[in-house]
This record gives sequence, structure tokens and C-alpha cells, in this order.
Amino acid sequence: MKRSLFAILAVLILGAMALSACGGKQQVANSEGTKTTVEVPAAYKGKTNPMANDSAAAEKGKGIYTTNCASCHGDSGKGDGPAGASLDPHPGNLDVAQANGDDYLFWRISEGGMTAPFNSSMPAWKAILSEDEIWQVVAYIDTFK
Ligand code: HEC
Repeated sequence: MKRSLFAILAVLILGAMALSACGGKQQVANSEGTKTTVEVPAAYKGKTNPMANDSAAAEKGKGIYTTNCASCHGDSGKGDGPAGASLDPHPGNLDVAQANGDDYLFWRISEGGMTAPFNSSMPAWKAILSEDEIWQVVAYIDTFK
């Protein structure tokens, strides 16, 4: 009896250690089905969409998305846009990325993926779209889930 209690305790402690080791990191699924672990930078971490669940904002986001994003990411964010097909790394499934949270999406759309660890052709949009427009796109991506 004592021994099994000890075993349960050991499992719990090891589990807690494993959890804290990856605290704050995001698992990112990419097209190859592999996972990369990245951390949202401090400047973006914890941001939430001021336009969450705002259907008018999502409607504006849809227009921005159709013009700027669908060519690579596809109309419904599956990564199947005509310009995205041959890219390596391939545009991710935004449905999957959406689960990483508002701050992750806002960061990735703002800064793009041209630098490590992504090294992709995902453009940085912060000089092109306003913060409000980026949040409108995030509100639209939320409708993909
Ligand atoms: C030139 C093609 C291209 C365009 C245009 C483009 N993207 Fe991307 N995007 C990519 C690629 C390739 C990736 C995957 C590599 C990466 O994560 O950097 C990506 C990744 C992303 C991610 C992270 C996905 C993940 O799996 O973590 C988000 C979010 C995203 N794009 C949103 C957008 C939005 C919103 C727009 C329009 C404002 C846009 N992208 C326009 C190519 C593009």
C-alpha cells in the first residue's frame, strides 16, 4: 500500500516537472505534420482580440483575408491556396494555428515568418495592415474553427 502511494506520488511529481518544462511554449503544427515549439515574444504575449466574437469585425476581416491571405492559405484556411501549394514550408492549416491563441495569431501575422525559426515566405503584415485590421483578420480566422 505504502509502496503504491509512493509510485503515484512519483508519477505526479514527474508529470508536474514535465509540464513546467514546456510552460509558456506553443506547439505549432506545420504542413509536414511535425511540431515545432516556439514561444510568443514578450511584446505579443497575452494579447487578446479586442474584437473577439464581433461579427462586423469578422466580416471586415474576411475582405482583408480574401485580398491578402487566401492566395496562399486558401479560402477556408486549409493551406490550399494556389500560391501556397508549392511553398516549403507550406502555409499551415489556420484551423490548427487558431488553437494557439489570439496572441500567437497576432504575432505571426504581424511579424511573418521570414526569420528563424520559421524561415518561410509568410509576409510580415504590420507595415501593411493596421493593428485593427490584423485583429479583424484574427476575428475572421476564429470563424474557421
Ligand atoms: C506568400 C504566401 C502567404 C501569404 C500571402 C500569407 N501567408 Fe501566412 N503563411 C505562409 C506560410 C508559408 C506559412 C507557414 C510557415 C510559417 O509559419 O511561417 C504561413 C503561416 C501563417 C500563420 C501561422 C500558421 C501556423 O501554422 O502557425 C498565420 C496565422 C498566417 N500565416 C496568417 C496569414 C494571414 C492572416 C495572411 C494575410 C494577411 C497571410 N498569412 C498571408 C504564407 C503566406
